[in-house]
Amino acid sequence: MTFNTGRRAFLKAGAAGLAAAALYRPARAGTKDSSRFALAAGQGEVIFSEEQENPTRVMYYNQSIPGPLIRVPQGSEIVIPFHNGLDEPTTVHWHGLRIANAMDGVADMTQPPVPPGQDFEYRFTPPDAGTYWYHTHMRSWAQMAYGLAGVLIVDEPNPPPVDQDLVFAIDDWRFDRQMQIDEKSFRSMHDWSHGGRLGNFITVNGETEKVFAVASGERIRLRLVNIANSRIMNLLFGEPRMQVVAIDGQPLEPFAPEDGRIRLAPGQRVDLIIDIAGDPGTRRPIEIVVGEYAYEIAFFEFAREPRRETPLQDPVRLPDNPLNRTRLPDEFKRVPLVMQGGAMGGMRAATWQGREMDIRELVQNGKVWAFNGIVGMPEAPLFSVARGTPISLDVDNDNAWPHAMHVHGHHFVHEGSPGIWRDTALFERGEKASLRFVADNPGKWLIHCHMAEHMAAGMLTWFEVT
Ligand code: C2O
Ligand code: CU
Repeated sequence: MTFNTGRRAFLKAGAAGLAAAALYRPARAGTKDSSRFALAAGQGEVIFSEEQENPTRVMYYNQSIPGPLIRVPQGSEIVIPFHNGLDEPTTVHWHGLRIANAMDGVADMTQPPVPPGQDFEYRFTPPDAGTYWYHTHMRSWAQMAYGLAGVLIVDEPNPPPVDQDLVFAIDDWRFDRQMQIDEKSFRSMHDWSHGGRLGNFITVNGETEKVFAVASGERIRLRLVNIANSRIMNLLFGEPRMQVVAIDGQPLEPFAPEDGRIRLAPGQRVDLIIDIAGDPGTRRPIEIVVGEYAYEIAFFEFAREPRRETPLQDPVRLPDNPLNRTRLPDEFKRVPLVMQGGAMGGMRAATWQGREMDIRELVQNGKVWAFNGIVGMPEAPLFSVARGTPISLDVDNDNAWPHAMHVHGHHFVHEGSPGIWRDTALFERGEKASLRFVADNPGKWLIHCHMAEHMAAGMLTWFEVT
């Protein structure tokens, strides 16, 4: 697969792409109608490039790639009447939100799938402010690859003032020569046993060469969201005055990332505050590093007039969320979680649906990954605990691939990063580390790798809080 990006190959978004992206202009925080937001999944066509002959058939929410930006004020209820206009069942999962289990959107676990033509009302009150996202949780290896994902922002009542609040939703598409979603490779065991489905076309907010109009001296908040199936995004921002202010929605002590680099696994978010400065009328690229190369995927374009001569000096720390007040104890219930399988992983056999199978039989069934020797959803939970139990998920990434471990309904602290609360942790190959949290949200929750193909091929389990 050649990587069909880079400035040359990047094609201008056509009219449809731009129309879709227009939904991404930031809305004012706390708009009056934010308590109700109608969402519909459907099939349709969009144009990603002026040069494509036929539009690309996609699945999308509200006819927009990515889905419409949903904003809700922190601590207030939002009602989302959802309509499934697809010709297959689906659900919507609200990634990273610590909400009631019945609203988590996991097909066949927290709700029955929404059949074609039917509706389901999501209703929840997000306790924490920050940058989140939503996506299908059914056949997500296909439905996400077709486009079913969008960004959800929970607004702080008193955010630090910025001149612009911008979303940067980065996606990775695999197109065939006709610029259609490459369906032939959907069940590629090669992809599923390696790094997942990696694409050949990167978009930011549904556009190639996304341009962010800025003015020198502005303070901007940039909300990065990796909505790709499996690609880990290594982004390069040539910004000297850039601070990470939140990770996976949660505020932290601001810090400047080394060399302006951000590594974002599928599902992860990073909020940046940038005091941007540049020569009027110029463009500054944002790049993605793939292998040995860096490709320009978006730009800051500086207005002819600067906003201010000296950048703002006041601090950029976000107000704490209720989660930040969580104190982790010294003692935990320890739960080992060994991640096994994949190409070059040496897994010989594992249990699937209660039966021990050798690797050949597993592969025939499209299963190549396991947690603790078990492939796919086990009947019994990984653990079942009373509400309030401190958990240490002792993860051992015992295979040749990186994985993005996601825990539903909870945030955790990735051992070695005190004070940083995440819902999705990247484990490098061979990495061992504990994810620590208090299991305080009642219900049945998934734990899985957020690389959609790894999950489909076996990397998921669940736990119960009673
Ligand atoms: Cu964003 Cu179960 O996932
Ligand atoms: Cu994985």
